Amino acid sequence: MDRIRIEGGCRLNGEIPISGAKNAALPLMIAALLSDETLTLRNLPRLADVALLSRILGNHGVDMAVDGKRPGQNGVQGDTVHYTARTIVDTTAPYEFVSRMRASFWVLGPLLARCGEARVSLPGGCAIGTRPVDLHLEGLAKLGADIALEDGYVVASAAKGLVGAHIDFAKVSVGATHNVLMAAVLARGETVLENAACEPEVRDVADCLVKMGARIEGAGTPTIRIQGVDRLHGATHCVLPDRIETGTYAMAVAMTGGEVELIGARADLLQTALDVIGAAGVEITPTNRGIKVARNGARIGPVNVSTAPFPGFPTDLQAQLMALMTTAGGTSEITETIFENRFMHVQELARLGADIALDGDKAVVTGVNTLKGAQVMATDLRASVSLVIAGLVAEGETVINRVYHLDRGFERIERKLGDCGAQIERLSA
Ligand code: UD1
Repeated sequence: MDRIRIEGGCRLNGEIPISGAKNAALPLMIAALLSDETLTLRNLPRLADVALLSRILGNHGVDMAVDGKRPGQNGVQGDTVHYTARTIVDTTAPYEFVSRMRASFWVLGPLLARCGEARVSLPGGCAIGTRPVDLHLEGLAKLGADIALEDGYVVASAAKGLVGAHIDFAKVSVGATHNVLMAAVLARGETVLENAACEPEVRDVADCLVKMGARIEGAGTPTIRIQGVDRLHGATHCVLPDRIETGTYAMAVAMTGGEVELIGARADLLQTALDVIGAAGVEITPTNRGIKVARNGARIGPVNVSTAPFPGFPTDLQAQLMALMTTAGGTSEITETIFENRFMHVQELARLGADIALDGDKAVVTGVNTLKGAQVMATDLRASVSLVIAGLVAEGETVINRVYHLDRGFERIERKLGDCGAQIERLSA
């Protein structure tokens, strides 16, 4: 398995292109199942999760064609891919795929809406807490689906089609919102989703569905209204920029010092996180190409932060913020409210010399003067990148083992950081 080797101590200076958002790309690709016409997606990030989902969609019968690159294109622009689900040839999403990526469970709603049946394995993905799917299943049942659990599979059917309903989610869930929204666009009549996730990726998916002929109002707010239509048609959609990648590189620059322009980044997608980084003493300036992040001289100050659904501080940036706070001038408190087991990076950061005490869902991080390089293990997607951030300032060499998690969510991270002066390389197994 590949490893990443970092020699700490270099400041970051230059430009980093921000890729299309993984968490929008995945449900957008799945939306292709809803139409027999072609959905063209631009700015798709080149990630292991995108490749795996392509295989899953291929298994359902989706044809894919990737636009070629012209000579001179430097490879940092995202891909354009055409997805055509002319005929769904298989409504089963097998364990060997779904167990490797939780988002692939979201094929359930679209398959059910289009074909009246689906058999989807219970999901896997990052080991961050129990991550049930009860909200997905309750929502789809309200739309009239019969749902049973058989041998680790969700078996759902709606022989006479789905029917619009009023669904009040007991808890905010990004995945359940995507899954039920995509099913409801082809249900008969009106569906109202209450306590829906407001994440920008939900809005992006809804925007794409509307281009495909869906009738949706209120996406991006807690109440989404959907008027079902008989069929969706083809469309072209550009994936919005990745706010988690943006926040991650902003924190990397905050950590090392220097000045980097994040090209294509949109501040409105992560204002709370940028406010926190700003409060820690980093200069954040919107530019006409993205966002400029700069820290020159002054030490990072401590912050107290709780993760929350959008527009709150994202759980997907919690590990990176913790890495940043390990060298702050003071004590920070970071509380994780979304996932119960999302502190696996703590023991790995401790190997680099971080001083972090855990108290239930709260981590108390006391800034140290220096981190020291060591061998560490990547445990999940966001935890892995927090180790990269810490490694950028740790004295000497840090080697991050098991980087496949990193490849699931960060496109060419060693090249993007290397181009800004980091000493970072991939050691292929
Ligand atoms: C998505 C994101 C992930 C992010 C998370 C929270 C993608 C591909 N993944 O994951 O990066 O960390 O949102 O912003 O977009 N829950 C239930 N029952 C359910 C579903 C969820 O109790 O049926 C709970 C979960 O255990 C968790 C909370 O709800 O505690 C939020 O999870 P959810 O928003 O569903 O996360 P994902 O969609 O899996």
